[in-house]
Amino acid sequence: MSVTVTTLSKMKQEGNKITWLTAYDYSFAAVLDTAGIDAILVGDSLGMVMQGHDTPVPVTIEHSCYHTQCVARGVKNSMIVGDMPFGSYQVSKEQAYRNAVKLMRAGAHVIKLEGGELQVETIRFLTERGIAVCAHIGLTPQSVHQLGGFKVQGRGEAADKLVEDALRVQQAGASAVVLEAVPRALAKRITGEIAIPTIGIGAGKHCDGQVLVLQDMIGIYPKKSPKFCKNFMQGTDSIAAAVSNYIDEVKTGQFPADQHSFD
Ligand code: KIV
Repeated sequence: MSVTVTTLSKMKQEGNKITWLTAYDYSFAAVLDTAGIDAILVGDSLGMVMQGHDTPVPVTIEHSCYHTQCVARGVKNSMIVGDMPFGSYQVSKEQAYRNAVKLMRAGAHVIKLEGGELQVETIRFLTERGIAVCAHIGLTPQSVHQLGGFKVQGRGEAADKLVEDALRVQQAGASAVVLEAVPRALAKRITGEIAIPTIGIGAGKHCDGQVLVLQDMIGIYPKKSPKFCKNFMQGTDSIAAAVSNYIDEVKTGQFPADQHSFD
């Protein structure tokens, strides 16, 4: 591993955009790593793009560990972020610690979990024990049934709550925060107010970095992809070229354009 949470923090300070993509297996991980992606997220989106479910809810810690192991074998330089699946950290901070350790033993350098203020105690417990944590706020897909669907979050009065969530996870020791499906003006405000990097997905161009689900980025997901996705295979003849184009467009601020974000 050569990219670390310190690298990401420095990139934010220097205004260099951070690039993440998801991957779930050895071969794609090797393509992404060779292309120079900063971080590979072994997301619980694997429930949808690998397993064919409609939500990430069925994913277990065993699934996440298996895919993290596969990815780890393909990676030399990128940082690996392992996603804590639904039910693997909500019961207690001790449960979260035990499952975070499993993901790290599988090869994750950082673990990601969904939630802001409600996860503060867990984030503090993990970070005080040497685990690097990325929080995930805004649209949190593990709560899709409670949210009533995959909907934009943080509009109107909910905006201040999301800013508070971002500040609270930072105070608890999180090293980064994913902002999913939030208006771009709010993502800009959060990015300006916190010192840790924001990684956006459907959160506009002002985030410190971007992440997309690989299958959306190469246009092979058979179901409907969200409006914030772009098919980078268009105009290219290889997956490696599509990944390089994604990296270039994020680094130069061409992606995401306003059409890939929300007002
Ligand atoms: O599981 C995942 O792929 C994610 C991204 C959508 C950020 O959490």
